[in-house]
Amino acid sequence: MGILSLATLVLGALAPLGANGADIVSSSGQTGTIPGWSIQSVLHAPDNFTALAQPGADVSEWYRVSSRKTVMAGLIEAGVYNDTELWFSDNLNHVVDRSVFGSPWLYRDEFTLRPKKGQHYFVVTHGITSKADIWVNGKKIADKSYQVGAYGGHKYEVTKLLQEGPNAILVQAHETSYLLDSAMGFVDWNPYPPDNGTGVWRDVEISQTGPVALAPIRVVHDWTPGKESVDITIKVNATNFEDHLIHGTFSAQLSLESDHVLVLSQPFSLDANEEKVLTATGTVKNPQIWWPRLWGDQPLYDVGVKVTVNDKVSDIAEPRKIGIRYVESGLNDFGDRTFKVNGERFLPLGGGYGPDMFMRWDAEYVRQKFELMLDLGMNTVRLEGKQEHPELFEMADEIGLMIMPGWECCDWWEGWTYNTDVPDYVRFDHHDYWIANYSMLHEASMMQTHPSILAFLVGSDYWPDNRAASIYVDGLKTWDWPNPIVASAGELGSPKILGSSGAKMLGPYDYVPPNYWYGGQVGAAMGFGSEEGPGVGTPEIRSLKKFLSDDDLNDLWTKPKKGLFHMSSNVSSFYDRSIYNDALYNRYGAPTSLEDYLLKAQIMDYEATRAEYEGFASLQDAHHPATGVIYWMMNSAWPNLHWQLFDYYLNTAGCFYGVKVGARPEHVSYNYENNTIYLINRLNGLNDGDDGSRSVYVELIDTTGTSLSTKQLNTTTKPNHSKEIANLTAYEKINDVAFLRLVLSDKEENVLSRNVYWLTPQNDVLQWDNSTWYYTPITTYSNYTALQNLSTANVKTTVTPTTESSNSTTTLQVQLNNKSKTPAFFIRLVLIDSKTNENINPPYWSDNYVTLFPEESITLSVSFDSKLSGSPAVEVSGGNIATHIVQ
Ligand SMILES: *[C@@H]1O[C@H](CO)[C@@H](O)[C@H](O)[C@H]1NC(C)=O
Ligand SMILES: *[C@@H]1O[C@H](CO)[C@@H](O)[C@H](O)[C@H]1NC(C)=O
Ligand SMILES: *[C@@H]1O[C@H](CO)[C@@H](O)[C@H](O)[C@H]1NC(C)=O
Ligand SMILES: *[C@@H]1O[C@H](CO)[C@@H](O)[C@H](O)[C@H]1NC(C)=O
Ligand SMILES: *[C@@H]1O[C@H](CO)[C@@H](O)[C@H](O)[C@H]1NC(C)=O
Ligand SMILES: *[C@@H]1O[C@H](CO)[C@@H](O)[C@H](O)[C@H]1NC(C)=O
Ligand SMILES: *[C@@H]1O[C@H](CO)[C@@H](O)[C@H](O)[C@H]1NC(C)=O
Ligand SMILES: *[C@@H]1O[C@H](CO)[C@@H](O)[C@H](O)[C@H]1NC(C)=O
Ligand SMILES: *[C@@H]1O[C@H](CO)[C@@H](O)[C@H](O)[C@H]1NC(C)=O
Repeated sequence: MGILSLATLVLGALAPLGANGADIVSSSGQTGTIPGWSIQSVLHAPDNFTALAQPGADVSEWYRVSSRKTVMAGLIEAGVYNDTELWFSDNLNHVVDRSVFGSPWLYRDEFTLRPKKGQHYFVVTHGITSKADIWVNGKKIADKSYQVGAYGGHKYEVTKLLQEGPNAILVQAHETSYLLDSAMGFVDWNPYPPDNGTGVWRDVEISQTGPVALAPIRVVHDWTPGKESVDITIKVNATNFEDHLIHGTFSAQLSLESDHVLVLSQPFSLDANEEKVLTATGTVKNPQIWWPRLWGDQPLYDVGVKVTVNDKVSDIAEPRKIGIRYVESGLNDFGDRTFKVNGERFLPLGGGYGPDMFMRWDAEYVRQKFELMLDLGMNTVRLEGKQEHPELFEMADEIGLMIMPGWECCDWWEGWTYNTDVPDYVRFDHHDYWIANYSMLHEASMMQTHPSILAFLVGSDYWPDNRAASIYVDGLKTWDWPNPIVASAGELGSPKILGSSGAKMLGPYDYVPPNYWYGGQVGAAMGFGSEEGPGVGTPEIRSLKKFLSDDDLNDLWTKPKKGLFHMSSNVSSFYDRSIYNDALYNRYGAPTSLEDYLLKAQIMDYEATRAEYEGFASLQDAHHPATGVIYWMMNSAWPNLHWQLFDYYLNTAGCFYGVKVGARPEHVSYNYENNTIYLINRLNGLNDGDDGSRSVYVELIDTTGTSLSTKQLNTTTKPNHSKEIANLTAYEKINDVAFLRLVLSDKEENVLSRNVYWLTPQNDVLQWDNSTWYYTPITTYSNYTALQNLSTANVKTTVTPTTESSNSTTTLQVQLNNKSKTPAFFIRLVLIDSKTNENINPPYWSDNYVTLFPEESITLSVSFDSKLSGSPAVEVSGGNIATHIVQ
């Protein structure tokens, strides 16, 4: 047993790039990233690539871009295009010169190095879209038939090609057809980026090793709930790049917050050019367990591995962090997908992730999206073929969000003979299976160690055929995949090796009313919905003005059936808002202005998303239980009018606060279909001293504020369970519209959840038998038009700074006091900067878009990044109150 310093293990791995001209790597175990590229279309570049791939070739006229840039992302970075302008109105349709995207693009850079004898050097790729030829110092090292696929990562030895001083690397990235190439497509989510995502979108690295080189680390352990010690095995593949036998020492280390938990070291030998698995096993007593955020902490253990030969470091694997936790999945009696985390039933309440349209990676932006998801009470994010970068998984590990990665739908990835949704020429051939294999192996190597992974979905709408399914499963197993593998996101069929997915993909994707979720059919709250939602997500005015022209804004409320560029793409069923607008006009009355339209849209969006989350949370213990739902979709790839819970600028509106109420950890909700009231608990335990006693106060009032019924009841909550606690009485007394307020309190009378509905005497009537893949039509709409005639409520708003504010975060307290005898309906509070009159994004409101009962007062809070504004103000507007701004 040797004692190693952790610092040497973890710090050595990524060579920071120093001043220009510093060596990209200088000792074994180092990896350096090509920091940027000069890019140019082959149409405008010299055609002698051998010459271009030599140091010194003149590319001074090319565009200079940083690493991880598709062609379009690079052109935006280089100032050729401006995304704000591209995305304004329908500019994307006509300002881009598309002639350059039907041909390959060249990426070129030089790096300096002083190759040393006995050392080995590699070019490492992680995926280039759609495929690439690569040259180093004039020699071709990779052909497009091998370096292929957005997720095809490979390691090329280039030792013999390198020279002292500058070295050149040239990549020819071939143009991408979503249907024929292994890429990352958007189907109908948004217009396609003009380059279809072509380019070097992930890092390209240079690594240096001694005679033995290491692959990424993988870790397996045998912890199951209740075990007090865990056997941990750290594995790494080592390859001898010499043509003779090598003896060396393999050292591995596991530590927690700089405490060395395990330090293991053992000799190994490798025959000439042999590759072998090196393993180190140790036992950790009382391991610290990783939990999803709502259920506990996220302790992460650092893992470091290195090999030495003749007492000299030969290679250091990229350090990883692991979390000790246990994920299980199976099918229940109804054939529905279920999950357990650390032995507890886990109800995924999540959202579908949208990357940037140009695949630009902005870690801070993604972190904010994840924080917003946690703020919503969500616990899971689904990545449909958009695995981004290792940082995404690291971030999820740190903040405790579960990730459901997987392959994407509707293009090359689903070229199965039985897939009738893609053209006949989209069919896997031998080479495609080969690409699928390398893509799976590479992504498994990136994901294996992350505790945030809930499951990998090897299919999306369709299931992979038996050959592909085996390739995927074998690929994952090769990397000791410790997590569930699910055949697909839908249930159209299944491969032998995996069986049924138990995941439904029956819609909706367009508007359905709140009672839909309690209808017991199609996408209603039962089983596991892998992508569904009521198609809402209308941004508020300050966001809309950033990407819509005055004409577009006018169309939004005056042309309810018109196709809109900022909806889904024009080939899509979701190009216009007609299903949504039909419901809006019929339920809330024809809009009289843009302002009126947006208010009604926010009201519709709020009740639509709240019902979806309440449906799945409240029915987790129903006869046919709800086992989880992923919202279609969490966020958009560009400024968009629907399919999002917060907008591109991270502003939050009606649909956001609907989810925030519906996904509350402890909550009381109403089932529109049978008037039942539910007590929901999504926590995994009670606090010390809490015996679970809860009281619920129910009150129904009419539009004038007159009480129709009140009820108080005492009950007991059980962690991670939901139950029916009462029936709403006096529903039949509703004349036009009534407000129902449910308040859940604990024994100390702390309010845990306050929830207000607006109800009509008749629910929307759904035509279930005529459901399509994307919605269920409504035959009779609920009539909420009486809400337009509420008498004005006088709400006093007071904004005060709080002591909770820190240097980095400002928190304001906002008190709302309804001084009237009428309810104050749907008060929206918009956080703005009083100087610029722009939103401060993202705002973290404790609650928002609230409805106050007569003479009720409530206190809310809002937090934001102090850097964003020193002069915040709150704009107050809503259903029946005068709009005003409070500083
Ligand atoms: C391309 O450049 C290489 C290296 O400069 C040179 O040897 C070769 O002759 C050139 N090929 C052609 C076709 O010009
Ligand atoms: C892009 O355009 C917007 C609006 O015209 C402008 O505010 C912004 O500064 C531009 N961005 C860059 C990087 O030039
Ligand atoms: C992008 O992919 C689509 C679908 O395969 C294809 O029709 C289109 O020609 C591609 N665009 C480019 C620029 O290659
Ligand atoms: C590790 O090496 C062994 C032996 O060559 C091979 O069978 C296995 O597939 C490799 N594993 C990985 C993850 O590459
Ligand atoms: C109410 O409806 C839900 C389904 O939405 C069902 O699970 C429950 O049993 C019903 N309750 C009663 C009392 O009918
Ligand atoms: C609920 O409990 C409270 C406090 O213990 C008590 O005052 C109240 O009467 C109870 N209500 C009902 C309906 O039992
Ligand atoms: C609600 O009413 C139904 C009958 O309509 C009854 O079966 C059920 O027990 C009631 N639920 C509660 C919680 O009282
Ligand atoms: C389904 O739609 C058809 C055609 O619009 C209509 O005739 C039929 O009544 C509808 N079915 C139901 C159950 O509403
Ligand atoms: C909707 O309700 C309003 C009043 O509450 C009434 O005037 C109107 O006729 C109703 N609309 C329909 C279509 O029934």
